[in-house]
Amino acid sequence: MKNQVSYQGMDFVPYITRQTIDRRIAELGQKIVNDCKTADPEGSDVPLFLCVLNGAFPFASDLFRAAEDLDAEIAFIRLKSYEGTASSGKVKEVMGLTQDITGRTVIIVEDIVDTGRTIHGLVEQLKARGPKDVKIATLLFKPEALMCDVKPDYVGFEIPKKFIIGFGLDLDGLGRNLNDIYVLKEVKENA
Ligand code: IMP
Ligand code: MG
Repeated sequence: MKNQVSYQGMDFVPYITRQTIDRRIAELGQKIVNDCKTADPEGSDVPLFLCVLNGAFPFASDLFRAAEDLDAEIAFIRLKSYEGTASSGKVKEVMGLTQDITGRTVIIVEDIVDTGRTIHGLVEQLKARGPKDVKIATLLFKPEALMCDVKPDYVGFEIPKKFIIGFGLDLDGLGRNLNDIYVLKEVKENA
C-alpha cells in the first residue's frame, strides 16, 4: 500500500488494505453460497451475478470466484441515467443485459451505495422483468448518505460519508487500478 496517492491535485491516504478487502470478499462469497443453497437446495435456479460497470469489476471478479461452490452465471451491465440534473441518478436504461431473468435470482454487484438512487432505479428496472428475487451485493455502503428505500443484502464495509477511491472506485476515471482503498485527505485548517 502506498502512503499517499494524488489525482487532480487531491491527496488520498490509506483506508482499507487489499488484505482486508480479500478476507471480506471471501466471507461474502461464502454467505452468498450458503444463502442460495438454502433457498434452492436442488440447485434448479442458477443465480445471475450482475456486475455494474465500470466500478464494480474488481469486486465482481473476486466475489464471483469466492462463490465457486455455486453454479452461477455472470453478466456485465452499464446504466444510463436521465441527463440534465447530473445527480438525479434516475436509471433510464439497463444496457447489456441479454439474459432472460424471468424466475431467476439476480445478485446485483455494485462498488458502492451512496445515496442509493442508482441501485434503487436498477432494482425497479430488473423487477419489471419478472425475476424470482433481486439481491444487492455492494463492496461499500454509506448508510448516512442513503436517500432511498434500499437495503443491501451483502455489504463489504459500511463507511462514513467520505470520498474514497481504489479497487474499482474512481475520481473522474482515475484510481480504479489501485489495489487498496484510499480516502480523501482532510485538509486541516490553519495548518
Ligand atoms: P448513488 O446513486 O448515490 O448511490 O451513487 C452511486 C455511484 O456514485 C457509485 O456507483 C459511484 O460511481 C459513485 N460514488 C459514490 N460515492 C463514491 C465515492 O466515495 N468514491 C467514488 N465514487 C463514488
Ligand atoms: Mg458505480
